[in-house]
Amino acid sequence: MKKDILTLLDLSKEDIDKLLNRAIELKDMQKKGVPYKPFAGKTLGLIFDKASTRTRVSFESAMVQLGGHPLFISARDTQIARDEPVRDTARVLSRYLDCLAIRTYSQDLLEEFAEFSSIPVINALTDLYHPCQVLSDLMTVIEKKGKYSGIKIVWIGDGNNVAHSLINAAAVLDLNLVLACPEGYTPNDDILNRALGTGCGKIDIISDPAEAVKDADVMYTDVWASMGQESEHTIRKRVFESYQVNSGLLKQASGDVIVMHCLPAHREEEISEEVLEGSKSVVWDQSENKLHMSKAIIEALIGRKDG
Ligand code: CP
Ligand code: NVA
Repeated sequence: MKKDILTLLDLSKEDIDKLLNRAIELKDMQKKGVPYKPFAGKTLGLIFDKASTRTRVSFESAMVQLGGHPLFISARDTQIARDEPVRDTARVLSRYLDCLAIRTYSQDLLEEFAEFSSIPVINALTDLYHPCQVLSDLMTVIEKKGKYSGIKIVWIGDGNNVAHSLINAAAVLDLNLVLACPEGYTPNDDILNRALGTGCGKIDIISDPAEAVKDADVMYTDVWASMGQESEHTIRKRVFESYQVNSGLLKQASGDVIVMHCLPAHREEEISEEVLEGSKSVVWDQSENKLHMSKAIIEALIGRKDG
């Protein structure tokens, strides 16, 4: 049966550990110049109807480096934009492609796509989740901290799609996760309750960022207004003002804390320039790791070959 990655709940701890180990291995192979091109003749489609720099380019480059062919498909230039049903598009594209990454607004639309596709479907971000981001972020945590178990990860800001995927990861991997979010901007209750219901992971929601970051090993933030929320930008800037990751907040965390941001960043909004460019920031390695994790994901879904 084909495997999709629509949320991190589609994966077991064993699946995620395998992806993390393989991404680290593939990164090492690339750095050593070991040739590995198992996917000649295979095509990865990318249907995006939201902007993207990192996710799009990392998946495209990953497929090229694996010897396959990436095919970027701007949703607005397809018949989807002229109301061809998703289920028809999914069945047709399955006849041309070997794997499909989708970035869109609605998780339901993504799920319908996956239901009617006979090829693996990857969630490249929806309003609700960003699973591939969190997989590569966990790779960065392992690189910088040696492990993810027992590491205190503190999310500061909006309870958004990236936060939701972190919550899922906490449940699957038994993570220690604290989310500091203003009232009214906490994560989705269903997602949170489902994670809490597993009894795995230590997940706390609190409102005070200074209290949250006490003893933090990882501080992670993201934009205050995600794609699709542009009209709320002004009000959100006011609501989130005291949630900026800056040198004052950094001082409350443990001395060897690392600072993460999935990017794109808005300097002097959710993160100060000083912290983003400072010695605790790992954002550029974090970005790079999207490439290596994209390769591990493609390989796991299309089928591993020896190499
Ligand atoms: N972090 C991330 O997903 O970036 P893009 O929106 O540039 O893909
Ligand atoms: N939460 C952000 C993530 C961007 C990678 C958004 O959805 O716009």
